Amino acid sequence: MKNGFSNKVVVITGGTGALGKVLTKSFLNYNPKAIISTYRSETELQELKAEVNSLSDSSTKLTTAIEFIKTDVTKENEIKKVFSDIIQRHEQIHILVNVVGGYIGGKSSTELDESEWDKMFNMNLKSAFLISKNVIPIMMMNHYGKIVHISSRTGIKAEGNDSAYAASKAGLIRFVESVSQEVKELNININCVLPTIIDTKANRIAMPGADYSKWINPADLSNVIMFLCSDYSKIINGSAIPTYGLS
Ligand SMILES: NC(=O)c1ccc[n+]([C@@H]2O[C@H](COP(=O)([O-])OP(=O)(O)OC[C@H]3O[C@@H](n4cnc5c(N)ncnc54)[C@H](OP(=O)(O)O)[C@@H]3O)[C@@H](O)[C@H]2O)c1
Repeated sequence: MKNGFSNKVVVITGGTGALGKVLTKSFLNYNPKAIISTYRSETELQELKAEVNSLSDSSTKLTTAIEFIKTDVTKENEIKKVFSDIIQRHEQIHILVNVVGGYIGGKSSTELDESEWDKMFNMNLKSAFLISKNVIPIMMMNHYGKIVHISSRTGIKAEGNDSAYAASKAGLIRFVESVSQEVKELNININCVLPTIIDTKANRIAMPGADYSKWINPADLSNVIMFLCSDYSKIINGSAIPTYGLS
């Protein structure tokens, strides 16, 4: 199957997170024209750089230009600057995957601080709004675009003691649905995926002894995301794709 990524500029926000690292490497296997991965933490950046370098040392010949840009995606001025820098160098952004997000759970709504509520909404929902708002005009100029955000199954079925997380991820699903109506005539697709627990180092530390076989393998999730970024999924728009088949 040809994904058609070879002439594409791919931006991954939150690219140094657990899923972001795997997604960045998965895209690299298809040699897009450029990958721009945004990050906040320098430690995680070094880890991703090392992993990317080891890929280029392997037998696979990488032709992709890969760049890393530091940004806080909850600040519109920073997003505008990042996108404008990318346009100056690469002229276009064809694909944007927003992997930024976070979780606060284990607290009832009466125990939750206002700052924790705000943190969840800023990280999980405001970031998606600001990124989409600023990348869509760029994609409109190209008459082409694929946007994928990461929601969660909790966005359609909360577990309890996760109200801010659940509400922010639910909001993201409706946000994606609404925006898809605005862009559907413009050859731009916007979708989100709904993972359950992803098999990450942080989750294994937080939940020792859990049945990891039920968890989502980040490489499998990356495959679904890349499908949504490919032209094979051009008739999918505004969807929240269930990616929790194992639980
Ligand atoms: N892990 C799971 O079990 C699970 C389940 C369902 C859904 N999800 C969703 O899947 C996505 C990826 O999860 P993950 O486990 O890979 O998370 P992760 O390892 O914590 O990665 C999240 C990334 O977002 C970045 N980030 C957070 N706030 C930011 C900001 N304001 N500006 C820029 N970057 C920011 C983090 O950077 P720093 O580390 O530098 O702060 C990190 O690189 C998230 O949207 C998450 O909500 C995860």
